[in-house]
Amino acid sequence: MMALTVERLGGSFVAEVGGVDLAQDQEAAWPEIHRAYLDHKVLVFPDQDLSAEDYAGFGARFGELAPHTIRKFAHPDNPAIMILSNATEFGAPKGVRDAGSFWHSDWSYRELPANATMLYALEVPGDGGDTLFADMAAAYAALSDDIKRRLDGLTYRGQYRWTKDRHDPESMWSLLTEEERAENPEVEHPVVRTHPETGGKSLFVFPGISAGIKAIVDMDEDESAALLAELYAHVTEARFQYRFRWPGAGTLVVWDNRCTMHRATTADLPADKLRTLHRLSTVGAAPV
Ligand code: SIN
Repeated sequence: MMALTVERLGGSFVAEVGGVDLAQDQEAAWPEIHRAYLDHKVLVFPDQDLSAEDYAGFGARFGELAPHTIRKFAHPDNPAIMILSNATEFGAPKGVRDAGSFWHSDWSYRELPANATMLYALEVPGDGGDTLFADMAAAYAALSDDIKRRLDGLTYRGQYRWTKDRHDPESMWSLLTEEERAENPEVEHPVVRTHPETGGKSLFVFPGISAGIKAIVDMDEDESAALLAELYAHVTEARFQYRFRWPGAGTLVVWDNRCTMHRATTADLPADKLRTLHRLSTVGAAPV
């Protein structure tokens, strides 16, 4: 194995890891990769050439692999891998066209949210289809002491793709099967969570529809709505964000959902710009 390099991208929290071939060296490189993952929250590995087995093996180092909530586009060789794609195959969609062009953290609507998620690019356009990341530890650190005190101990109720509007095409009522709906009851999570490995605090509230946040627990409805709106405005400020432009096929990106959020931009991707990625997530601990 060559010497592993870790370099911040454009002075951001995101880092690129070089000098590692994940098909060969993932075992030997794991301690350094794990350290870099905790330090940088989002890691980019360019120029990889991974089979579904190599990829799933790498994913399993971060935690237990589990299938996505929407199972329609599971990979035939490994159901934990979900295919994201705007391409068609024999006239049918090859994968999920848009996995979330809104700010979210994966599986935040579950009792056990995802810790790591990774995407492995098979085909990406020269431009467009970027993924945006936000540092939720930096967003927490930037709050005033007064607001931090106010948030201390608060929890919220949420449910996957919950919205008051049952006719919203993005809502659970439109997108999930009966069975998937039954598998995703309401959950309660802390507004601020402590990272189980680093001990750092992060905001854990997400404006995107997948989080489906209904209200802060034990708070007057208007006060809860105003506080959530204030937090959403704060966590989506540009100063906490990094825009990742996919350089080419073979790029693998992994992020820590416990202290970041992300959004796709595929809702705006023209149909002739083909983009196919394989997505994996691992099950984390209940947020505290
Ligand atoms: C996701 O939100 O899980 C996918 C992000 C992307 O497609 O860029």
